[in-house]
Amino acid sequence: MTKIGIIGIGRLGLCFALNLERVGFHVYGIDSNADYVQSIQDRTFSSNEPHVNYVLGEAENLTVSTDLKTIRDASIELIFLCVPTPSNVDGTFDHSYIDEVCSQLLTLGNPEKETHLVINSTVMPGYCDQLNERMQPHGYTVSYNPEFIAQGSIMADQQSPDQVLIGEANKEAGDRIESVYRAFCQGNPRYSRMSRVEAEITKLAVNCFLTTKIAFANSIGDLTIEHGGNQDAVLQAIGADARIGYNFLRYGFGYGGPCLPRDNRAMRMAAQKVGLNLPLSEATDEANMLHRDFQRETFEQNYSNEETITFSDLSYKRNSDIIEESQRLALAVDLAQKGYNVVLNDRAAVLDQIRAIYQDLFSYEVKEDE
Ligand SMILES: NC(=O)c1ccc[n+]([C@@H]2O[C@H](COP(=O)([O-])OP(=O)(O)OC[C@H]3O[C@@H](n4cnc5c(N)ncnc54)[C@H](O)[C@@H]3O)[C@@H](O)[C@H]2O)c1
Repeated sequence: MTKIGIIGIGRLGLCFALNLERVGFHVYGIDSNADYVQSIQDRTFSSNEPHVNYVLGEAENLTVSTDLKTIRDASIELIFLCVPTPSNVDGTFDHSYIDEVCSQLLTLGNPEKETHLVINSTVMPGYCDQLNERMQPHGYTVSYNPEFIAQGSIMADQQSPDQVLIGEANKEAGDRIESVYRAFCQGNPRYSRMSRVEAEITKLAVNCFLTTKIAFANSIGDLTIEHGGNQDAVLQAIGADARIGYNFLRYGFGYGGPCLPRDNRAMRMAAQKVGLNLPLSEATDEANMLHRDFQRETFEQNYSNEETITFSDLSYKRNSDIIEESQRLALAVDLAQKGYNVVLNDRAAVLDQIRAIYQDLFSYEVKEDE
């Protein structure tokens, strides 16, 4: 049975681990959060991600630990890293969690056989080349393999990607990563193999293209409404052009969540670092904010201050509990702060987070789980 290591078994890493385990790999998952590891070990952990609880309950070949030595002792030659890379204030990513894991690996001494580290975490362009320079003298190669998944459908997205993006250290590392995905991916994804920095740019660029498309759709929608037209009629006609397509071209709330906004900001910083100006990312962010202003003004025109406005589904995306940069929530906050009586209708898991931040700014209505 082929063994695979995953360091950082949080939202992304645990789903990846379970997808690999269910097709016959023995997965060794390492996480620094001892209580969390314990809850996975004794199967008391409960996730809102579809399929996770069931597959975890069935998983026989998932070994979890807080101790990196577990991976070394098992002589694992392919290790994925899914640790956090939070955004810095300037929009770049903080790589210190990856650096720390690598420092810990180095304290274990050189591995007996060359070991392939595969970075799943989102990083700045150029980072994996630097990390490879640091790790190569000690028996490691570094590849980059980001995933295009969304909260609320992580396991399914991992199983059916449009493409598997591999920024490979060398052909052998790339072949190994590709064979892992071939074992569990359904359909016929494109295997896009390239250099590390090309893959790092591609990952950010894909998300930036999506933010641009969403912001464009909402801007054109606002314009159409201002002219007394129907925004959906216009956007559907634009999307009918095969060069453009319908995906991500619907009118609605602005983009948010834990990935799109920050990847957009990081792209701008990646350009600045090499002396380029990339105004698209900045313009997209501005358009996203202007759209929220437009929505707020529309509410103000249509509702008097005495009326109650109810917002449902406050997370940034359906089937997710994540409220980070949710534009729907931001709009609700704008209106409540302007004196409207705003009722939030959502599941308790979402409302509890909002209540902890905004307390009695809103009225809260718990919705039953769907
Ligand atoms: N979740 C997503 O939908 C998603 C999508 C695309 C990319 N990503 C990227 O994947 C990375 C991980 O994201 P996530 O959402 O899974 O984060 P997460 O916070 O849910 O999980 C990270 C896990 O790493 C663990 N960890 C931290 N330091 C560690 C260490 N030194 N050793 C071992 N474990 C450690 C944490 O305890 C946590 O369980 C980020 O770079 C993120 O940008 C995530």
